[in-house]
Amino acid sequence: MAYENILIETPAPGVGLVRLNRPKALNALNSALTREVFEALEAFDRDDSVRCLVLTGSDKAFAAGADIKEMADTGAVTMFAGGDFTDWSRLMRIRKPLIAAVSGWALGGGCEMAMMCDMIIASETAKFGQPEITIGIMPGAGGTQRMTRAVGKALAMEICLANRHLTAEEARHYGLVNHVFPVDAYLSEAIRLAEKIAGMPGVAAQAVKEAINKAEELGLSEGLTFEKRNFYLLFGTEDKTEGMTAFVEKRPAGWKHR
Ligand code: CAA
Repeated sequence: MAYENILIETPAPGVGLVRLNRPKALNALNSALTREVFEALEAFDRDDSVRCLVLTGSDKAFAAGADIKEMADTGAVTMFAGGDFTDWSRLMRIRKPLIAAVSGWALGGGCEMAMMCDMIIASETAKFGQPEITIGIMPGAGGTQRMTRAVGKALAMEICLANRHLTAEEARHYGLVNHVFPVDAYLSEAIRLAEKIAGMPGVAAQAVKEAINKAEELGLSEGLTFEKRNFYLLFGTEDKTEGMTAFVEKRPAGWKHR
């Protein structure tokens, strides 16, 4: 498939990488770009040779938000009746682990898109923010919800009401970001982490991702029930037999990813 706004790579065994590529607009997320991102991630999700995904932008900007120029003439009825943002739930249906590698600006929808990923590896220059209020709107792709869960109510209020940016180190402190690396290393480190995850049994990795993401939504007893179902399910996989046999035989496991 030919894409105009993104680049696709497979930089390591089992790793699929999608790179936002609208440098002149700091990767502002217009509808064409976001559609391509969702399509490319979904294609990797269907590809049996890929087991972990990385979403990145440029060193200067992961993404500076939804495309303001595209939204400028859009009214409420158009937004309500199936505007582009309804599509964003497609990101939540990606079943394989998804790592955001973030450098520079991650603002508005860019910050929200990074937070929809399962982990974030940041460069020292990464800046996270929800500046929507400065253009008369508010976060519309999870910013008020996911940011609040990550940093707590008081700081989320400041971020969304006063356009306070989080530095990479602050974001790591609050648990929004896993690790911070120099600009010349963040992407290779994200790929290294993705390769490590891609080397794990694939069905188990998807079951873990699903269960941890449920922890954000369910109460503890429902979450524990959900976890137990996935745990039991994995006892039906070939990889469970292989993994336990390999342990007993003191040899590395040869995963089948089924
Ligand atoms: N939409 C459209 N174009 C954008 C953009 C955006 N979100 N962000 C940057 N650009 C464009 C600029 O218009 C500019 O294009 P031109 O050269 O054609 O003028 C180009 O990218 C470079 O930007 P700047 O000259 O502004 O670069 P800078 O280094 O001076 O500033 C910045 C960088 C602070 C990120 C600034 O560009 C900025 O504030 N951008 C907007 C951030 C924003 O408000 N994002 C939220 C959008 S709303 C949203 O995301 C809704 C939602 O919740 C889903």
